[in-house]
Amino acid sequence: MKQRVLTGITTTGTPHLGNYVGAIRPAIAASLVAGNESFFFLADYHALIKCDDPRRIERSRLELAATWLAAGLDTERVVFYRQSDIPEIPELTWLLTCVTAKGLMNRAHAYKASTDANEAAGEEPDAGVTMGLFSYPILMAADILMFNATHVPVGRDQVQHIEMARDVGQRFNHLFGQGKELFVLPQAVVEEQVATLPGLDGRKMSKSYDNTIPLFEGGSKGLKEAIARIVTDSRLPGEAKDPDNSHLFTLYQAFASSEETAAFRTALLEGLGWGDAKQQLFELIEREIGPKRAHYAELMANPERIEAALQEGARKARALATPLLVQLREAVGLRRFQAIAAPVAASDSNKPQLPIFKQYREADGRFYFKLTTHDGRVLLQSEGFEQGRDAGQWVGKLKQHGAAALADAPVQLGDGISQDDVADALSLLSAE
Ligand code: TRP
Repeated sequence: MKQRVLTGITTTGTPHLGNYVGAIRPAIAASLVAGNESFFFLADYHALIKCDDPRRIERSRLELAATWLAAGLDTERVVFYRQSDIPEIPELTWLLTCVTAKGLMNRAHAYKASTDANEAAGEEPDAGVTMGLFSYPILMAADILMFNATHVPVGRDQVQHIEMARDVGQRFNHLFGQGKELFVLPQAVVEEQVATLPGLDGRKMSKSYDNTIPLFEGGSKGLKEAIARIVTDSRLPGEAKDPDNSHLFTLYQAFASSEETAAFRTALLEGLGWGDAKQQLFELIEREIGPKRAHYAELMANPERIEAALQEGARKARALATPLLVQLREAVGLRRFQAIAAPVAASDSNKPQLPIFKQYREADGRFYFKLTTHDGRVLLQSEGFEQGRDAGQWVGKLKQHGAAALADAPVQLGDGISQDDVADALSLLSAE
C-alpha cells in the first residue's frame, strides 16, 4: 500500500543541529522515496500551548519554514503547510474531543509529567496546566486523521500520542462510520538508526539543556564557536583518544561517509589533538550546511517567498481536508435541514411524482374519468357522461381550478381518500 507519511514540527525555538540530524534530514530523505506521499507541517497551534510570546511564535515559524526549505524540502513532492492555515483542523479537533475519554487524556505522558512535578513540589496537581496542554493529544490526532496518514515518523516520546490518535480514530469510526472507515488508523514510525545527536556536553542535544549547536543562525562563525565549546577530555595532542567515548566523534559520524568516519577514528587513536579534531569537524559540517545556509539567508530576507510556498501548501492540504470534513459533519448529524425533510421513501428523482387523470369508456357506452396517484390509487372517480367531451371539460376545470372546482363536479372520492388529499393532488397538478 502506498504510504502517506505525515509529521509536524512544533514552532517554538530555532532549529539546531540535533533537529537537523534527528528529524529534518531523515524526513526530507524519506520524502524522496518513490511512491511515498509526504505531508510536513508547522505545528503552530501546538506552539501556542507552550509559548505565550507572539514575537517568538512568529520568529520561530518563519525560521522553521526557511530551515525546511533551505534543507532541501521539495514543495512539489511534499505538501508543506502551516497547521493554522487549515481551519478544518480545529474543527475536527472538536469532533474528536467529543468522543475522547477524559481518562485517556489523564494518562498522557506530557500531562502526567506536569501533575507529577506539581505534586512533588507540593502544589495542586493541575497548577499551571491549561486545557491546551491537557487536550494536546487530541489536536495532534486531528492533524494526523485529517489527512488519513498511514505513517507518522516521531521521536520515542511521541509514540503514545500516535496510539491515542488510533484510539480516537477507531472510536469515531465505530460510532459514526456505519461500517465505513472514515479515518485510516496511523502507525508510529520510530527511526532506530537515526542517531540522537549529542550536544556540547555529551547529553542529548536539546534547548532545555542549553547544549545546542546552531544550524543556520549565527553563520559559519556561530557554528565554529559552538564547536569550540564541545567538551572533551584532557588528553593532549599525541595521546591516543577513545573515539567510542567521545561525543565529538559521534557528531563527526553524523555528517561523514563511512570511509571518513574510519579515517577519523584512526586519527584519534593515533593522537590527533582535540583542537585539530574540532577544526575537521567544523569543515565537515560546513561542507553540508554551508550551501544550505546561503539559501536560508536568502529566504529569511524574502519572507514573501516562504509565505507563497506555504499558501500553496495550504491550498493542497485543504483540497483534501474540506471534502473530508463535509463527510464527517454529515456523519455526526450536522447536516443541511433539507436532507432530513426529504421523504424517506423518495424516489431517485427529486421531482414529486404527479397524480394522473385518466379518461376512458366503459362497457355501458358512457365516458368516465378518474384521478389516481402516480402508483394507481384512486383519488376521484367520475360519473358516466354521455359525451366524451363533457368528461374532458371536467378534467380541464379540475386541472385549472383545483379544489375550487370540486364542489360541483360529478365525482366521488376514492376509498379512504379525503377532500384534502384530492386538493393536495390537484394543487400539485396546477403547479406543473
Ligand atoms: N507533538 C509533536 C512534537 O512535539 C509535533 C506534532 C504535532 C506532530 N502534531 C503532529 C507530530 C502530528 C506528528 C504528527 O514533536
